[in-house]
Amino acid sequence: MEIKVQSSKLNAISSQALVLIVFKNQKDEVDLGSEGQEINSLLNNALVKTIKSEFWKAEVGQVLTCYGNDKLKTERIILIGGGKFSECTPDTLRVLASYIISKAKSLKCSTLSLVIEEELVKKFEAQTIVSSLSDGFYLGSYKFLKYKTEELKNHQLPEKVSLVFSAQKINLKETQNAIEISKLFCSATNFTRDLVNEMPSIATPKYLANVASGLKNKMITVKVYNKNEIKKMKMGGVLGVSAGSNLEPYFVHLIYKPEKVKSSKKIALLGKGITFDSGGLSLKGSDHMETMKLDMAGAAVVLGVFKVLQVLKPKIEIHGIMAFCENMPSGTAIKPGDILTTMKGKTIEVLNTDAEGRLILADSLCYATNLKPDYMIDLATLTGACMVALGEQVAGLMSNNDKLTEMIKKASKISGEKIWELPLVPEYKSLIKSEVADVRNTSKSRYGGTITAGLFLEEFTENIPWAHIDIAGPAWAETIHGCCIAKGATGFGVRTILTLVSKVL
Ligand code: BES
Ligand code: MN
Ligand code: ZN
Repeated sequence: MEIKVQSSKLNAISSQALVLIVFKNQKDEVDLGSEGQEINSLLNNALVKTIKSEFWKAEVGQVLTCYGNDKLKTERIILIGGGKFSECTPDTLRVLASYIISKAKSLKCSTLSLVIEEELVKKFEAQTIVSSLSDGFYLGSYKFLKYKTEELKNHQLPEKVSLVFSAQKINLKETQNAIEISKLFCSATNFTRDLVNEMPSIATPKYLANVASGLKNKMITVKVYNKNEIKKMKMGGVLGVSAGSNLEPYFVHLIYKPEKVKSSKKIALLGKGITFDSGGLSLKGSDHMETMKLDMAGAAVVLGVFKVLQVLKPKIEIHGIMAFCENMPSGTAIKPGDILTTMKGKTIEVLNTDAEGRLILADSLCYATNLKPDYMIDLATLTGACMVALGEQVAGLMSNNDKLTEMIKKASKISGEKIWELPLVPEYKSLIKSEVADVRNTSKSRYGGTITAGLFLEEFTENIPWAHIDIAGPAWAETIHGCCIAKGATGFGVRTILTLVSKVL
């Protein structure tokens, strides 16, 4: 699917469908806008008549179809409701674009033109509009079809989508460039979604280590450590978590170095890579286990980011660090009461084997601190408590550094991926103190589980500026929401991190 910006008259559009986003005004009346009025008069008032006879209200996502005539070269006109104009945000545009693409799919349109109203360009910049729409088109058209034998035929996307500016003058080159960036970010996101949606018996530690190896190119080097090498590095957390599984763990270090520039900044991206989280001996109930192939989503975000770095060419050095393990119960599994010694010697009392993510992240943080990065950011599907606190659509952010927090918030505003900061309350540190080891892997309290997990990780950061993003909620769409209109993996985090490394840092 190709998306092109175009500047042309409405009666010159010849695609199979002409789409117009129509908003409601302050009085809740349908407001066709100048483009809509022009189309309406070309259609001899048919648009207004249809709106009235169908009681169409321009609610968000509401669709209305009209047929063209000889004054318009297009076969049909599709109106899509945008809700109140005053409430429209770039995120609304993403969502609308995803609805448009599913409508185009069901109508089997191979070409589609979306008219961008003048009013919108006054409200947002043209670049913001086209990149939001493009995000919605590319993310909304994703579906994991690998194991579907029947649905494939019905998944026909338009070949060509034109974003038409009819009245306003815009910078074609700049706006087209915004689309190319969106396309790149969404391809990385959809790559991550494929990895997370893959079944856990295929997407094993070894499989994902191989995916990482495949990312090697002129600018990216890949180091993969096997179990023996992990032993040599004394990563007791990684070894402990994988002890119950028949599958050996892998530890991956990806390095991206920018060309020429004597690298200004160095950042480390860490991802939780539990390929399946059964809970271990602290076994999960079957309901909670259903989606636990998602537990490598953090690492999959890091892989998705690296997938496009060579094209994006950010001017900073980026390290990707992830441990891949399967958390399983067995005679060789770690037991509640066991004590693990992490890479740099800090000991952890394991009281619940289902709090395994922090055990592998502890070693990953130790490894990362050795690189002396300016910033470390980890992404992890770490706690169910984060879903209780923030729901399915918002990630939790915790950090020991205000500047990094602000930069991540800024990137998330641009990407539209919602992130909310939670405090690393120092008073709660006592909740993870152990009688027999340096720290314990669960809190003594039932409450604040996301924060105590964050405090646990902070123990391993050695005061290097660090942020932890708990993506347990938004990594996976249990229900359809936003512009990811497919249930399952969302690739949440990829676009924020790519924005951060290319525009904010
Ligand atoms: N992978 C889970 C967290 C999770 C839950 C992610 C639901 C996505 C959806 C994590 O390893 C886990 O099991 N956490 C426990 C921690 C507890 C034992 C302290 C949890 O949240 O219950
Ligand atoms: Mn777990
Ligand atoms: Zn887990």
